[in-house]
Amino acid sequence: MSEWVLLLGGSTGHGAATAKRLARDGFGIIAFHFDRGDAKKIAEETIAEVSDMTKGNCHYFNTNAASEESMDKYIPKINEITKGKPLKLLLHSIAFGTTTNFFGEKPVTQRQMDMTVHVMGNSLLYWTQKLHQAKLLSSGSRIIGLTSEGNYLAMEGYGPVSVAKVAMEAIIRQIGWELGELGITANAVQAGITPTRALTKITDNWEEWVEGTKKRNPMRRTTTPEDVAGTISMLLNPEADFINCSIIYCDGGESRSGSF
Ligand SMILES: NC(=O)c1ccc[n+]([C@@H]2O[C@H](COP(=O)([O-])OP(=O)(O)OC[C@H]3O[C@@H](n4cnc5c(N)ncnc54)[C@H](O)[C@@H]3O)[C@@H](O)[C@H]2O)c1
Repeated sequence: MSEWVLLLGGSTGHGAATAKRLARDGFGIIAFHFDRGDAKKIAEETIAEVSDMTKGNCHYFNTNAASEESMDKYIPKINEITKGKPLKLLLHSIAFGTTTNFFGEKPVTQRQMDMTVHVMGNSLLYWTQKLHQAKLLSSGSRIIGLTSEGNYLAMEGYGPVSVAKVAMEAIIRQIGWELGELGITANAVQAGITPTRALTKITDNWEEWVEGTKKRNPMRRTTTPEDVAGTISMLLNPEADFINCSIIYCDGGESRSGSF
């Protein structure tokens, strides 16, 4: 296998679509997911498909990728898998946070805020630091995180995740600024509203969000995980070598459109 990518959150939604797309592009896939119950069954289907597409050059780990123990345990394994070759991509596509408001019946707690910002934001920094230290990032490597319109809009249940998104964007900007001289770039992809498992956890009214988005979006549909996977695939081309510290919008123009 000539090149490998590492996907944090690669079993469903954007991460799964990216795994399949990059498998099709010829990359070996290393991915983390954290699934139990029904989600685990869906994950198993994704893994079987990606394993097939990559002819076995596929390693999925079902564990909390945000913990320092996981990073320290699995980075040597990643090094073995790639035979010390630097990764083409580190993608953060983890959705795991508290979706509650700041006030009202169940006001968010400090513990929930800290967990959400760590898992959905800061963990990207610690992964990047450790992979860099292990020499698993080099010229041409990409760091990509997924952000959303909730990074600058307040909305129902999204407060803690919104804070994590802002943290992640700042982390990405700073990583790109510090590692750019090594040819390593860092960018965020801002996806439009996408009907995935994560969306159903944000609000009970997610179906209304989807219908409203179809009206608002200039292209009259919601974003698909495949749209995002295609954008990430494009960003791995050498033509994207100079795109750094940026937010790339993959939303059909949704975030530039008013609600009426
Ligand atoms: N769905 C949307 O509308 C939308 C829009 C913009 C951005 N995003 C962002 O895209 C990213 C992916 O979300 P999605 O919509 O594909 O959700 P999803 O629920 O389909 O996927 C989440 C993935 O994260 C994994 N995961 C969760 N906690 C983990 C942990 N601790 N360690 C390892 N893996 C873990 C799950 O196993 C799964 O693979 C998130 O950052 C989300 O905020 C989503």
